[in-house]
Amino acid sequence: MEDLVSLCKRRGFIYQTNELYGGLQGLYDYGPLGVELKNNLKEAWWSSMVYERDDVEGLDSSILTHPNVLKYSGHEETFTDPLVDCKECKSRWRSDNIVDNICPSCGSSDLTEPRPFNLMFKTNVGPVDDGSNFAYLRPETAQQIFTNFKNVIDSTSRTLPFGIAQIGKAFRNEITPRNFIFRVREFEQMELEFFVEPGSDEDWHEKWVENRINWWVKQGVKRESIKIIDVPSQDLSHYSKKTVDIMYKFPHGVEELEGIANRTDFDIGSHTRHQKEYNITAKVKENPDSVTKLAIQNKITNKWTIPYVIEPSAGVDRGVLAVLNEAYRVEKLDGEKERTVLALKPHLSPIKAAIIPLKRNNEELVSKALEIKQSLQSLKLGRVLLDNSGNIGKSYRRHDEIGTPMCITIDFQTLEDDTVTIRNRDTMEQERLNVSKVSTYFQSKLL
Ligand code: GAP
Repeated sequence: MEDLVSLCKRRGFIYQTNELYGGLQGLYDYGPLGVELKNNLKEAWWSSMVYERDDVEGLDSSILTHPNVLKYSGHEETFTDPLVDCKECKSRWRSDNIVDNICPSCGSSDLTEPRPFNLMFKTNVGPVDDGSNFAYLRPETAQQIFTNFKNVIDSTSRTLPFGIAQIGKAFRNEITPRNFIFRVREFEQMELEFFVEPGSDEDWHEKWVENRINWWVKQGVKRESIKIIDVPSQDLSHYSKKTVDIMYKFPHGVEELEGIANRTDFDIGSHTRHQKEYNITAKVKENPDSVTKLAIQNKITNKWTIPYVIEPSAGVDRGVLAVLNEAYRVEKLDGEKERTVLALKPHLSPIKAAIIPLKRNNEELVSKALEIKQSLQSLKLGRVLLDNSGNIGKSYRRHDEIGTPMCITIDFQTLEDDTVTIRNRDTMEQERLNVSKVSTYFQSKLL
């Protein structure tokens, strides 16, 4: 993990937030390359969920959330971790991280009894700060999908089965944030809430588990680095009938990358008005506050149904860590030399191609390089960089390390015969190509 963290900082993928003031624990910023990688991963998810299917709509809802949403969702009561304090060194721990009742920091066994600690952040809405006008920062993007259920049906005329997809920030006041971007207090989720007829939920659950494993493999996560577990019933979230976790072999151990839950009719049943009119199977809190009917009408039978929900929910930051970890390798070269390579899938690479003039600031070479950069950039397949550093060997190493799939070198021969050298990141092989063929070559490697 240390090598990866150091590469992330050195090359501009990920920095600790507010490091200049000592940092804020459990918060990270994505640098120039990190933001590209993260956006590419989110784009791949959005494309597979929304564009490549015809039964999913997108949504981008607000982060600040009405307290009633998180009251009826069960989060106010149950979204807690058991917390213990060390009376000796005053550190705080999740009690499930304590072994043999010993403080991991100072070794004391003088610990408090575990007590529940709610993980939701609160903030004040409006100018009066007396605690009466508060809102939560959403702890999952899912709830805002449920509260928009009727809006989306009304504006799209969807019938079951269909889904609503959302990517966005979620906030949890984790007691012990740890392992780089694995467990943080501010993170992003990619969540799909897929609404189905009760009774068809188990089949859909299986389909989504399969779909999500295949998607991660397409992002470069090896199938053998993934472990699928059926969450034991005593560990299920309050809303879940069954959850399958996609676990990944992170550098610090095998942990959850994504969960696929069968949330039954719990959420829509919790937020609808007139709950008694429906045959809600989940145990929901009585809701006198909702003013909206959240059922869906079957157009053939005219019957109103509260749908079941299948939810594949993935963490963007954990996804970034997984694809970086899979891609990172140090290769031995001839002699004593070695090179670091990020063998990212090209669609995830922060820079798709580097155009390198052989001689720095040589007007003719730079102008030809700029021409090629602009023509590749106009294809809109991601960032193409004109790298005018003048040291070809160093540029190749740098681009290997940040995962650029190809480097295109403009040399003096280019000015004579309009050919360039294309170097492949993974094989280090070089080939000479006519400039007129570069766009097609570039597209073929990225699509
Ligand atoms: N809506 C369901 C839900 O939020 P979850 O298992 O609590 O379920 C879903 O979270 C995903 O969000 C996890 O699989 C993980 O990838 C990511 N995640 C959860 N807590 C996180 C944290 N503190 N830091 C980074 N990612 C987190």
